[in-house]
Amino acid sequence: MNIATKLNIDEIKTKFIGLNSLVRNKPLVYLDSGATTLKLKSVVDEVVNYYSASANIHRGTHFLAIKATEEFEATRDLVKTFVGARKKEEIIFTKGTTEAINLVATILRGEIKKGDEIIISALEHHSNMVPWQMLAKEKEATIKIAPINPDGEIIIEDFSKLLNEKTKIVAINHISNSIGTVNDIARIVALAKKVGALTLIDGAQAIAHKKVNVLDLGCDFYCFSGHKMFGPTGVGVLYGKEELLERLPPYQGGGEMIKDVTYQGSTYNDLPYKFEAGTPNIAGVIGLKKSIEFINDTGLTQIANYESMLLKEATSRLKKIPNLTIIGNAKDKGPILSFNIKGLHHDDIGTLLDQQGIAVRTGHHCCSPLMNLYKIPGTIRATFSIYNTLDDIEKLSQGIVKAVELL
Ligand code: ALA
Repeated sequence: MNIATKLNIDEIKTKFIGLNSLVRNKPLVYLDSGATTLKLKSVVDEVVNYYSASANIHRGTHFLAIKATEEFEATRDLVKTFVGARKKEEIIFTKGTTEAINLVATILRGEIKKGDEIIISALEHHSNMVPWQMLAKEKEATIKIAPINPDGEIIIEDFSKLLNEKTKIVAINHISNSIGTVNDIARIVALAKKVGALTLIDGAQAIAHKKVNVLDLGCDFYCFSGHKMFGPTGVGVLYGKEELLERLPPYQGGGEMIKDVTYQGSTYNDLPYKFEAGTPNIAGVIGLKKSIEFINDTGLTQIANYESMLLKEATSRLKKIPNLTIIGNAKDKGPILSFNIKGLHHDDIGTLLDQQGIAVRTGHHCCSPLMNLYKIPGTIRATFSIYNTLDDIEKLSQGIVKAVELL
């Protein structure tokens, strides 16, 4: 496989912090990038640089404030191009994907009335479920669930049947965080549009693994987190179509989101600031720029090909382990491999892998309803990123065998 040589993974690995750590006196094998990726040195340097001479943005006439504002807004420009948005006004900085979804669920309150319907899929993370449940409860609307087949793929025909004139919102993830399914977002959005529904895509697990173009996808909203793309925690992005963001009310009130304030009332700022009340995570946003530069320099197609090779190898290795079942066998999968071992608890395997220096996530992965659907309490989940190698997969495979022997 010459993808690895094309990318020079050894050189890429030198750009990350933590890969050479020892955990439990063993060299770290980090297979939990789905929870959060390791961080780029360039990101951490940028965050330190900002804090070494920090100033607030959009508020000062002095040198440091102007510099911070320019760097903050340069990131917005870069994000705009990165996701293929038309305008930088369509890019809102948030705390992360969860806040972005809550923001949209809140500003859509005026659009939803009793009896309306919101569709999510059976694959959703709690964060793309609970905000809609809260909205539905308040407005006496109904949540409908787009079903999946046993492989973990949304059954498009059944999803289509749920759509009708009462459907106001369709909120679906791009890639399932727990079992890796890549959803056909362009098709789902096109179907939702036929009934005039708004669409929100949770791109948390896709953004560092797949080229995203919001215009090609056709969605109204797309959101993701910095920390899942080698960047800082506490920073995320909401893309929203300009006409919608113009029409919808602000999310939070405070400084920066206003144009004019009197004791009697306020007028709101232009986009994107209307949705950015208060001092944001300036360091996080500025650091995120370095993540995007790294991904652009490396190339998302190359990244996707490399990770797909890792997933294929891992799947084939793990399938050879007796009593191991892979949960989620979609034809198109992101670099996420969930599995269980018959008769053994996922946490016990996770603990024994940890003792060997292998970091995986175990549990329901914030997808309790999906686990209930599969009639399992949880899974062991290995997730791969650009700094992983075939050697890591070998260690995972051997680590599982060892853990099973010990139990
Ligand atoms: N959503 C993150 C995960 O899937 C935390 O692990």
